[in-house]
Parts: sequence; C-alpha cells; structure tokens
Amino acid sequence: MTISKHLQEICQDAAEKVGISYDLEKNLLWDSEARLLLELSTHHAHEGVVIEIGTYRGYSACLMGMVRKLADGMEVYTVDQSQWLSADALLTRDRIGRLGLRDTVHCINLSSGPASVQIVRTAIGEHTECSLLFIDGDHSENSVLHDVRTWLPMVAVDGLIVFHDRVRVSEVDAAIQKMLRTGEEPVASEQYLAAYTRDQFHESF
Ligand SMILES: C[S@@+](CC[C@H](N)C(=O)[O-])C[C@H]1O[C@@H](n2cnc3c(N)ncnc32)[C@H](O)[C@@H]1O
Repeated sequence: MTISKHLQEICQDAAEKVGISYDLEKNLLWDSEARLLLELSTHHAHEGVVIEIGTYRGYSACLMGMVRKLADGMEVYTVDQSQWLSADALLTRDRIGRLGLRDTVHCINLSSGPASVQIVRTAIGEHTECSLLFIDGDHSENSVLHDVRTWLPMVAVDGLIVFHDRVRVSEVDAAIQKMLRTGEEPVASEQYLAAYTRDQFHESF
C-alpha cells in the first residue's frame, strides 16, 4: 500500500502528537506497527468509520483518531468490555481529552457482542459503513472468530480487517486461517499487525 507524501507527513505529525516516538514501554504496538496502523487508518477515511475491538488505554484508538482528524476523515468507534469507571477507561478518556479527540474517538464500554454493534449502528446511521475494522480484543481463537463474524457485516466491500498479535501458529492466526480463502496473504503487515481486505475472507466461515 502506498501513501502520498502529504499523508506521510500527516502520519508523521500524528505519530509525534500522540507520542509514539519509540516510547514502547507505554505502548502495546511496536513503532513500525503503529506507523502502519496510521497509514491504514487513512484508507477511505471520508467514506467510512474505523471500528476497533479492544480499547485498553486508548493508545491505538487515539492513533487512528488523530490521523482521521488530521485527514478530516470519519470517526473512530472503540469497544471494550472494561467498565466506564475502570482505570483503563478513565485513562482512555483522559488521553482522548488531552489530544482534542472528543469529537473523533467514541468509547463503548461493553463487550464486543450485538449490543455494541447496535450502538455503533445507531450512531453512524444505516448508510455509513466501516472502512477499517481493527480486531485487538480477546485473542482466543473463538473470540477472534466471534468478533469478525459479529462486525464483518458492517465492513465495506473494499474495507480492511486488521488484526494485532497475529503470530504464526497462534490462536489469532488459527482463526484468521479459518476465515480466509485458501492461499490469501496480508495486503500489509508489520511485526504482529496484519491487514486483509474483506474479499479475502470466505463469505461464510
Ligand atoms: C490488547 S488490549 C487492546 C490494546 C489496544 N488496541 C492498543 O493497542 O492500545 C485488549 C483489550 O481487549 C479487551 N477485551 C477483551 N475481550 C473483549 C470483549 N469480548 N469485548 C470487548 N473488549 C474485550 C480487554 O479489556 C483489553 O482492554
């Protein structure tokens, strides 16, 4: 995937603003993964929302929110089962506020099941699709399968599905291999981050 110089500058600017400058202790993404996620987040930024499963402390949600905001793109919805008043949720909201992303990154403190789908659907309306689905919640095989089954219908035909913690012979990888058509490889990857297009998945799995 190639991006324009202008977008590269946006990504760089976003990375610096969010503070990913190699401060890996605080972050769950390697720097190269964060940069790829920034690039991928500009995919059809004006035509669909980003949906993330697994907010934790809002690091990746804010990365994607920042680049979306800088690119004047659509918003980010991030889902996590952590309680609204949990330390993680408080830290996330604090980070969102400090970065000026309250109108861009929306937290849903619920598990990734149908109730949160309904909330996102109501918020974005019937005609808006998801241009990037980031799966980074529970990494068990069944949960990854469940999350993709639950959220894939919202993804645009030319949308991206991005997984974190995809390691060969892991449960995340096992789930991905069950869902993909034979022989499909990621369209982009860095370390443990791998992106696929919707048409690489079986219609039913
Ligand atoms: C690896 S962390 C996410 C990291 C985050 N994406 C980042 O890079 O900053 C996984 C998160 O998934 C959440 N989670 C696990 N199972 C979930 C489920 N069924 N529904 C929603 N969130 C879930 C956990 O509470 C945890 O905060």
